[in-house]
Amino acid sequence: MTAISVAVVREQAREEARVALVPEVVARLIKGGASVWVQAGAGLASTFSDQQYTGAGATVVATAAEALQRANVLVKVLAPSAEELLQLPEGAITASFLRADDALVAALNQRKHTALAMERVPRTTRAQSMDALSSQATVAGYKAVLMAAGGLPRLLPMLTTAAGTLTPGRALILGAGVAGLQAIATARRLGAVVSAFDVRAAAKEQVHSLGAKFIDTDAVTASAEGQGGYAKEVGADEQERIHRSIARVINDADLVVSTAAIPNKRAPLLITAAMVATMRPGSIIVDLAAETGGNCELTKPGQTVEVSGVKVIGPLNLAASMPLHASQMYSRNVLALLGLLNKNGQLELDLADDIIAAMAVTHRGERRA
Ligand code: NAI
Repeated sequence: MTAISVAVVREQAREEARVALVPEVVARLIKGGASVWVQAGAGLASTFSDQQYTGAGATVVATAAEALQRANVLVKVLAPSAEELLQLPEGAITASFLRADDALVAALNQRKHTALAMERVPRTTRAQSMDALSSQATVAGYKAVLMAAGGLPRLLPMLTTAAGTLTPGRALILGAGVAGLQAIATARRLGAVVSAFDVRAAAKEQVHSLGAKFIDTDAVTASAEGQGGYAKEVGADEQERIHRSIARVINDADLVVSTAAIPNKRAPLLITAAMVATMRPGSIIVDLAAETGGNCELTKPGQTVEVSGVKVIGPLNLAASMPLHASQMYSRNVLALLGLLNKNGQLELDLADDIIAAMAVTHRGERRA
């Protein structure tokens, strides 16, 4: 057994401004007996300077290779590159969002690394503090509303002024999971009148508790909820009923944020081009499901399209656009995970632990899932 030695390197992907560990969390790891190696500049895009890392007790090194060579655990936001995996000592542990394809699995296995995928954290009470999908969805839901609000030709709150009264704007949130609930709360804070829809019956109470109206349809059932609180795919009849319900309200919305998702499936299509045609010019749709096919028929991933005056924005990786808090929350998720690997200051991987078992995609040269 060896003490935990963690590498933090600069994310390589374009527009990835997050960092896997912020200085505050580094300090906590070091207090727990770990050593932390940080590539110079790793935190700059998320506002954290090398001096802050040094102050937290990390050793800042000039290159990624210098950090990687000294580590037995590599923490990243996005999946490590083949080059990074080669520089890590054989048999190391990596923790990141992985979305592993065959090439990545081969690169991990070639070096006998154990890869823990943050997107596979199970939905259990014990694992909640490690749930990076939820922490990043919180940021995305918030930012989606700000993006839409910033582009609207109108104000959102009701205002009574000497120049007359302004009516409040209307927001429609589709999918009331983690991102959707945060979008509802943000739109409410900005003064919009908010309606929301989800297929899971449990979402209704949560929507109400945030002061929004729930769009009730007979497609909303307890059976729409599958394992881990995720939604299941709906049948053609239900889809039809959902479309009718959304069509009835979307024409009145100034701002729509759609977040509906089904694990490992294409995102459900909730907004047709015909529905968009009924919306007022100047209205904005932000489709957070752009990455998985889109909730809106007109969505183009990573682009904004405008159809009869309605903008449809399909942002990718929105959490990275608010990298300070996104990194802070992600770091705390990683810290909780590293807590599972730390047995009295020594690195120990317990594959019998249900959280580790669910997250481990590869181990000692073999693919596990
Ligand atoms: P998600 O990102 O997979 O999906 C977003 C939302 O889209 C979900 O609320 C889903 O019900 C909804 N949806 C799917 N198909 C739809 C359709 N055809 N029409 C309308 N809405 C549709 O889910 P997310 O946000 O990650 O979590 C969903 C729920 O899981 C949460 O509200 C919570 O209750 C539970 N959860 C539990 C956790 C735990 O126990 N540790 C952690 C996080 C969430």
